[in-house]
Parts: sequence; structure tokens; C-alpha cells
Amino acid sequence: MVFESTHPLVKHKLSLMRSVDTKPKKFRELIREVAMLLCYEATADLKTAEIEIKTPMGTATGRDLSEKIGLIPILRAGLGMVDGIWEMMPGAEVWHIGLYRDEETLQPVSYYNKLPTFPTVQVCLVLDPMLATGGSAIATVDILKRWGAKRIKFVGLLAAPEGIAALQKAHPDVPIHIAQIDSHLNDIGFIVPGLGDAGDRQFGTG
Ligand code: PRP
Repeated sequence: MVFESTHPLVKHKLSLMRSVDTKPKKFRELIREVAMLLCYEATADLKTAEIEIKTPMGTATGRDLSEKIGLIPILRAGLGMVDGIWEMMPGAEVWHIGLYRDEETLQPVSYYNKLPTFPTVQVCLVLDPMLATGGSAIATVDILKRWGAKRIKFVGLLAAPEGIAALQKAHPDVPIHIAQIDSHLNDIGFIVPGLGDAGDRQFGTG
């Protein structure tokens, strides 16, 4: 399933991120905010359990989150999506996965993974602003499934149709939550019109 956000705030903030005039500080603010909005949409089906709460006036019936959430940012660019989401869900665990894309082959190369032996969370949100060829997202979901994760969702900002198709083919059970699906990939594997390199634009390394 692919969920492309229709929320006006998401579209507005994403448009600001695309601009060549947006500097790293503003870009980091925007990625944080868009990630929170996308997470709100992506977590709409989290399981809850009924609880009773003592209020100053009596007893209310409420809901408590009953699933342990894992945030899985793909380094580097996924890092900027963590903080805002984590503020909303402070009980979440954060597990980093380090992958970079080989510039020649466009294949993901793994360089960091400290997942413990057994899964510690019930729902994994894979965070990466860019779904280009889909290779990095597929490799991350592969890692999480080998770890034993059962429920995995991908949350990103921009996707190329090629990346969506590849991720859906490899992992049809993983819903894709995205701010916008763009036109295509260019011959060096960048999303067009896109927003450039999301890692470089956050960290000022472009
Ligand atoms: C970018 C981006 C994704 C990946 C997407 O990372 O942040 O992780 O490429 O491409 P794919 O869908 O074709 O795999 P990059 O390799 O530039 O690393 P960085 O985030 O460290 O800059």
C-alpha cells in the first residue's frame, strides 16, 4: 500500500524544502516538521488498549498505546526525521542503520548495524527522506526482517515511481508513507525534480 499525503501542511513544507534557496538550518527545521506530520498519518492504526484514568472529577476511559515502537533512521539523511517523531513518542526505541549508496552501482553498502539479537519492538518505522531506486529501503527492511521484526512501515518525503515499485515488489507487506511521489530518477539515480541530496542539505556538506 502506498499512502501519499494530501495534507496541505505537508505539501507546503515540502515545497519550501525543495527550493535551492533553503539553507541547512531551515531545511533541518522543515524535515523535522514534515516527519512529524507524516508520522501522525503513518501511526493511525497503532494498537491501543482501554485504560481507566483517575481525573480530578472522576474516572475516564482512555486508550494506552499497546505496541512498542522502533524508529529506524537510515544514516545519514534519516537522522533529521528522528527528533520530532521521538518527542511525540518518547517511549520509542531508536535503532540506527548505516547504509550509503555506491555512486557507480547505486547499490546500498552497509556500514553500521547494532541491532540486538532479538527484536525489542513490535512496530518498526523506517525513516529515510528519499526513496530513489529503493535499494536502501529494501536492504533495511531485509535487515529488520532477519532480526525478526513483524510489522514494518516505511516513512519518507520523496519517492521516485521506480523506488516505490521496487520496494513494493520486494516487500509487499510494508506500507509506504510518503509526502510526494515525483516524476522519475535521472541517470545518476537522483529523484527529479526532487530536492537534491537530503543528507548534504541537512548537514551542509553539499
Ligand atoms: C541517499 C538517501 C537514501 C538513499 C536513497 O543516501 O538518503 O538513503 O540515498 O537511494 P536508493 O533508494 O537508491 O537506495 P546516500 O547514499 O546519499 O547517503 P547519505 O544519506 O549518507 O548522504
